[in-house]
Amino acid sequence: MSNLIDPFKRRIAYLRLSVTDFCNYRCVYCLPDGYQACGNPNDLTIPEIATLVRGFAESGTQKIRLSGGEPTLRRDITDIVRICAEQPGIKKVALTTNGHRLEKLYQPLHDAGVAQFNVSIDSFNADTFAKMTGKNALHSILRGVEQMLDYGCHVKLNALLMKETADEVIDDTLAFVKQRPITMRFIELMRTGDNEALFKKSHVSAATITERLIREGWTLRERSPMAGPAKEFTHPDYLGGIGIIAPYSKDFCASCNRLRVTSSGKMHLCLFDSLAYDLRRWLIEEDVAGLKAQLQRLLIHKPATHHLHEDNPGIMRHLSQIGG
Ligand code: 5AD
Ligand code: SF4
Repeated sequence: MSNLIDPFKRRIAYLRLSVTDFCNYRCVYCLPDGYQACGNPNDLTIPEIATLVRGFAESGTQKIRLSGGEPTLRRDITDIVRICAEQPGIKKVALTTNGHRLEKLYQPLHDAGVAQFNVSIDSFNADTFAKMTGKNALHSILRGVEQMLDYGCHVKLNALLMKETADEVIDDTLAFVKQRPITMRFIELMRTGDNEALFKKSHVSAATITERLIREGWTLRERSPMAGPAKEFTHPDYLGGIGIIAPYSKDFCASCNRLRVTSSGKMHLCLFDSLAYDLRRWLIEEDVAGLKAQLQRLLIHKPATHHLHEDNPGIMRHLSQIGG
């Protein structure tokens, strides 16, 4: 059981750890001009990550998701996975990736302990995919995904929902998951500091998909305790599933079970908070006890909810900064 309980009685059992903010994609909603380095790279080292993971696990964290930027761009990513997977108390290690290096890396990552891969595929149309991400990479990513399914990896796909492409991607997704045991999750576009104009133009509520799914015979599945915020739907005629992540929906934050740490060791109590808290001091000193005490102290400040409804993204400029 987690000892991390916030003032709203939410039990925190899930850490999202960004291991680098570098990314090789230029997603229109995240880094349309590509990654811009600010200052020297300052990523957490392997010993610092080991201390962090131990502190969280001993506080009751059971699941770690590695994200970025693009986490597979770190050369030591399999070592990071292994540290997380071997830490007593951690039951599940997941990885969010743009899929770019997966064909090469899925076997070592799986063997090191990644229990779930979340691969972003914003469109099944190669041209649309290239326009949305700046990379002409759809076919190699789909090849990687098919190989991973054959190898026995647990894979989920993520698509960012945009008004212009929504209908096409939903049709293609239904065809894709019909014969494959894979879930596609649609993520509603979130407003960040950098994407205001795009958000105004392209945000569409996930309710449009939910209504269509229900009309077409899909049913909502019960949420497991370690699950993220997706609502997952199944259908007897489909091997795969559909998930919906709708951060603007009512009560989205009520079941929040997560904390986030950036690649330089700053903890964000919420994706859209206006503050971040530096944990590096305890990581450098390998002070697990001090870190655990600090986590307890900070948790008191976890906000009840984000303020996206008031059009306030906090200090979040784009998601590669903190991890999606
Ligand atoms: N809104 C919602 N999701 C986003 N992501 C990146 N930026 C945004 C945003 N503004 C998601 C990507 C990817 C993950 C890393 O974060 O779609 O699935
Ligand atoms: Fe990179 Fe992910 Fe941002 Fe796209 S959404 S630019 S893949 S960090």
